Amino acid sequence: MTDEAEITRMERSTPRIIGVDDPDGDAAGMNGWAENGDGSAEDANGRAESAGRHEENGNGHAEGPDDQAKDAFSRLHVHHVHRLRVKASAGDYDVVIGSQLLAAADRFFEAVAPADAAVLIIFDEALATAGYPQTLRTALSLRFSSVHAVSLPTGEASKSLQQAERLYAECLAAGLDRKSVIVALGGGVVGDVAGFVAATFMRGIRFVQVPTTLLAHDASIGGKVAINLPQGKNLVGAFHPPRLVLYDVETLRTLPPAERSSGLAEAIKHGIIRDPGLFAFISAHAEALLEGDPSLTAELLARSCQVKADIVSLDERESGLRAILNLGHTVGHAVEALAYGAYTHGAAVAMGMVCEARIAVRLGLAQPDLVSTIQQILARVGLPNELPDSLKNAAAIDELIAHMRLDKKAIARSLPFVLPDALGSVRFMPAVSEEIVTAALAD
Ligand SMILES: NC(=O)c1ccc[n+]([C@@H]2O[C@H](COP(=O)([O-])OP(=O)(O)OC[C@H]3O[C@@H](n4cnc5c(N)ncnc54)[C@H](O)[C@@H]3O)[C@@H](O)[C@H]2O)c1
Ligand SMILES: [Zn+2]
Repeated sequence: MTDEAEITRMERSTPRIIGVDDPDGDAAGMNGWAENGDGSAEDANGRAESAGRHEENGNGHAEGPDDQAKDAFSRLHVHHVHRLRVKASAGDYDVVIGSQLLAAADRFFEAVAPADAAVLIIFDEALATAGYPQTLRTALSLRFSSVHAVSLPTGEASKSLQQAERLYAECLAAGLDRKSVIVALGGGVVGDVAGFVAATFMRGIRFVQVPTTLLAHDASIGGKVAINLPQGKNLVGAFHPPRLVLYDVETLRTLPPAERSSGLAEAIKHGIIRDPGLFAFISAHAEALLEGDPSLTAELLARSCQVKADIVSLDERESGLRAILNLGHTVGHAVEALAYGAYTHGAAVAMGMVCEARIAVRLGLAQPDLVSTIQQILARVGLPNELPDSLKNAAAIDELIAHMRLDKKAIARSLPFVLPDALGSVRFMPAVSEEIVTAALAD
């Protein structure tokens, strides 16, 4: 049934997950790859019996929707394929990672919508020259009779109400109705805007993420979508999980090096939070990952997506555990706010992770060498591992701290932090003293 000759490589990654809620690293089912099909995901401690882990191994054991995916793998030249599944109350969804998936996209959409559904692809205008929107449109046209595509100007400024309003008009012009599909093709910016439009148009329609940046592995999983207001980032949004995440690592070949580094920051973050094996993997392959080796990149994405998938499967609406994903972001968001546009998101998060590790050391939660371990890996993937001098003077530190008090996680203007205590383990500290934070930022 399966022509395995067509599949040059099927990767298998078995990340070891050490949970913060599970110091032994042995949460039930967390190391297995079998899918938990009975829906009984959580025990009394909120641990997943199986947080939706799934592997496509090409051996012909899959059933149902898996058959469609297997079909796609077998008949097309797709490589380095990894699959995982994310639990969501609106419906579990697949994350498929591999090479040459864009041209085979129609095969993966069979479970997304019926063939008579209208499809609107919203893509980053910068991708047009590389031909990705056309490739995707051509593939989807094999399955759907109505496929439109519309571009979004590149950059964070597009996460606006004005762009959302323009896109609603495009949805109407393309004849979208409640059973239609919006497909986001691009980085986190397109994913957030297109997802926001999908969450709100006709009270919410189907949504698919086709990420084209490394960073978007973080943004495309978990269902958070948002636009910005002039007063701040992501202030208007929704939880609107995708029906599918289709990640073609071939598209990452054209990604500028700074954006590659930026995405690696979030993967390093996932390693520090929950998977020392992922941290070691990045450390072992830093240079090849920076160069964009497709096989290693696919494995990196699978492992890093798995951490995010595990966490959001356990805490879909950020009522607790999910907050650990904010490692590096309390300081990082403040850096982004003060030095607007000077750093990629990943660079700001990298600086944030170093500062927050220093806070952990000052609080006696972590050993001092944790800071240098994190700094070394950041440097190797081309990320800053210190605050710049311009943000280290007393006035700038005061401003950074003032911004941190505005963080969504801050209650009564406290200084809340997710802090690493060792590789693979973090804890939430709701209120750290200003003296400690000031000292750590100046270190
Ligand atoms: N929803 C979430 O959970 C979540 C999580 C993290 C970040 N985000 C959001 O994601 C955004 C950042 O995402 P991003 O870093 O992907 O930014 P981005 O979408 O702006 O992409 C970065 C740059 O890369 C270019 N680009 C994209 N794909 C390319 C490709 N394949 N080849 C060449 N160039 C390409 C884009 O044109 C852009 O210039 C922020 O707005 C952030 O708030 C959301
Ligand atoms: Zn981030």
